[in-house]
Amino acid sequence: MFIFKSKKELQKHLSAFGNKKTIGFVPTMGALHQGHLHLIEQSNLKCDISICSIFVNPTQFNNPNDLANYPNTLTIDLEKLEKVKCDIVYNPPVNDLYTQGETAKSYDFGSLATAMEGEFRPGHFNGMATVIEKLLNIINPTIAFFGQKDLQQLYIVKDLVKQMQSATVIEGVQTVREESGLAKSSRNKLLSESAKKEARLIYNCLNYCQKNKEKGVDKLKFHIQQQFLKQKNFTLEYAEFVALKTMLPIKDWEEENENAVSISAYHSGVRLIDNIIL
Ligand code: PAJ
Repeated sequence: MFIFKSKKELQKHLSAFGNKKTIGFVPTMGALHQGHLHLIEQSNLKCDISICSIFVNPTQFNNPNDLANYPNTLTIDLEKLEKVKCDIVYNPPVNDLYTQGETAKSYDFGSLATAMEGEFRPGHFNGMATVIEKLLNIINPTIAFFGQKDLQQLYIVKDLVKQMQSATVIEGVQTVREESGLAKSSRNKLLSESAKKEARLIYNCLNYCQKNKEKGVDKLKFHIQQQFLKQKNFTLEYAEFVALKTMLPIKDWEEENENAVSISAYHSGVRLIDNIIL
């Protein structure tokens, strides 16, 4: 496995392949878990070469504490990547991607970026898209893999490549979960064992929506809100029912597989998100 700290070295290495190899790209912020590794495995299946970037992108954090507390487990991350046969890791310092004082670009993603994460994490998607645009320009991958866990991010990146007129295909990959149903997340490391148990509630609520879809949007939303009100250390930020195409709230279900239920909640100060497509 090759590890590059600068885009110059990375591009020099990639230029040797010319157009002969397909390149799969998995951008991450490290603290890797099975969810990330599943993206690498998908890349290995579909492309000749898999590249993983590990970069905690400062411009996408609207909360400075969240950035400061973001887990850093680089040595273990590299071992995990080696095990799943990732070919190349790009792990640059901030100044390889940003000039001094550079801030996020301002994008227009229309309705995709207004609700949910767009509402509760102002500026987040501009920062995320800024770094993804830079990374796609450096690597020019054949396919870039993104988790469905960050549903709005996935749809915004699909829009971003259209805006960039990039030939990169954006592929969404299913959410990997703990046995309990809790979506794997780098932030789970910040939860105590008992908090992790309680955090299952998010998946239980999503599952309830799947099993009781006929109850309709309003009743299901009310059910979720009631479940969270019963919890002492768990605060619901939003439970949003949206149309997949627009990411805007719906009052009634649209066609099969065209709807998503997304939940964001804080457990003991840790922000967790998850969703299900229905
Ligand atoms: P990060 O949170 O590290 O996630 C990297 C990728 O892993 C994202 O595409 C995310 O959706 C995916 N992922 C996370 N948990 C997953 C799970 N349980 N199952 C499947 N996929 C999962 O998302 C980011 O980093 C950043 O915003 C980034 C895109 C790297 C830009 O900085």
